[in-house]
Amino acid sequence: MKIVVLHGSPKGEVSVTMQYVRYLQQEFPQHEFVSFPVAQRIKLLEKDPDLFEEIIDQVRRADGIIWSFPLYVMTVCSQYQRFMELIHERYSEDAFAGKYCVSLSTSIHFYDHTAHNYIRAIAEDMGMIFVSCFSAEMQDLLKEEKRSELVSFGEMFFRAIEEKRSFPRAFDPVRSSAFIYEPTPSQEKISLRGKKAVILHDIKEGDNNLENMIHYLTNSIEGDIEVCNLNEVDIRGGCLGCCKCGYDNTCAWEGKDSFVDLYNNILMKADILFFAGTLRQRYFSSRWKIFYDRSFFKTHQPWFKGQQLGYLISGPLRQNENLREIILAYSEVFEAKLAGIVTDECNTSEELDLLISDLADRTVTDSVKGSRAPKTFRGVGGMKVFRDAMWGKLRFVFQADHRYYKKHGVYDFPQYDWKVRVLNTFVTPLVHIPAVRKIIFTDISHHMIRPYQKLFKDKKK
Ligand SMILES: Cc1cc2nc3c(=O)[nH]c(=O)nc-3n(C[C@H](O)[C@H](O)[C@H](O)COP(=O)(O)O)c2cc1C
Repeated sequence: MKIVVLHGSPKGEVSVTMQYVRYLQQEFPQHEFVSFPVAQRIKLLEKDPDLFEEIIDQVRRADGIIWSFPLYVMTVCSQYQRFMELIHERYSEDAFAGKYCVSLSTSIHFYDHTAHNYIRAIAEDMGMIFVSCFSAEMQDLLKEEKRSELVSFGEMFFRAIEEKRSFPRAFDPVRSSAFIYEPTPSQEKISLRGKKAVILHDIKEGDNNLENMIHYLTNSIEGDIEVCNLNEVDIRGGCLGCCKCGYDNTCAWEGKDSFVDLYNNILMKADILFFAGTLRQRYFSSRWKIFYDRSFFKTHQPWFKGQQLGYLISGPLRQNENLREIILAYSEVFEAKLAGIVTDECNTSEELDLLISDLADRTVTDSVKGSRAPKTFRGVGGMKVFRDAMWGKLRFVFQADHRYYKKHGVYDFPQYDWKVRVLNTFVTPLVHIPAVRKIIFTDISHHMIRPYQKLFKDKKK
């Protein structure tokens, strides 16, 4: 069988993920593998439609497709996302329709599921038959057990193609709406009360709803507000994955374009950030993704600590739960306070007016109060993945994170809570005695709420 690998690492062949592909190739010599480093060559593919067509032609002739990629900020890298856009812009989806495919990634397992969801949704939108995904931790291939899992994955994929197996869709096609937003001239202005706000967007011709949403927002606000279009900032390219930033948060692109300047001198000086974008395929534009990926020069530290963050989105977010998950996780892990997400999924323009001005009002009130929000599993779990990685095998590369984590108490293990230690050392063994266990568990509910009683004036309950 002919298997086409569309490889999504900016590092091309010299990529960890590519080693997994090579291993599959080695274990299945009966199949022909043809790999294309589409993310690494994205600029060339943009410029040279013939080169792009050669790849599409190979896709047409393939029995199966492997989407192989590293995780980049909860999905794929901007270059790979741009490749998805090119498929759409150049009307090449038909080459993919009806083909069997799998996704294969390497990562540190931080929001790898959202990346695979993204790829699966894109593939299903093109009419592909999505068989399964394989999400490896970077060094899994060095373990025999994991190599055998990879081989089983390959066997399953090739068998599915040979036996023409059926697989259910996971994602419904997206229905777009014809709603046209015509904002009313805003009446009352919301004062920023000395706070600075920045609206970052990626408007292109035709993004009328988003443009009007931004207009309404800027007209509703009085004070220091700056509006910045990512398409007008001198950003030369996506993150290269070189990880030079790991040592001291200096980006390899620094001095070569204006990204770091935008980040440090505009975004970081704001109290309130509004991110505004139109949904493209299953995410924002690849231009937005460049922003997210390039922000990685701040590596695994809370990029937006203490800032208020609001989203203005044009497009069907309610049909894209995966992206909502990414947005929520992003703000929790990087410690921005998410004030809200407003989309144009509305019935009337008045409804959208109100949503935008209420969002603006909330961001100002919360910023003045310095409000923060508790984390859910997204932020708590995500940070534990980072913590373990920086404590362990990634410390060598990400020394800036290690310093930050030490200084800010992110390394919260082993747990130094002495009361818990005493409890576990002396009381836990007693639980093995049936009589003691009976006493403890008869009244465990009261034991659990006892520490809270000091907070209440009424001590009776
Ligand atoms: C900009 C950037 C963003 C990343 N984001 C994530 C992420 O969100 N989740 C994760 O688990 N790993 C993330 N990683 C780690 C890479 O996915 C991982 O190192 C991968 O194995 C690299 O594969 P490659 O050598 O094939 O490019 C990120 C790495 C970079 C450089």
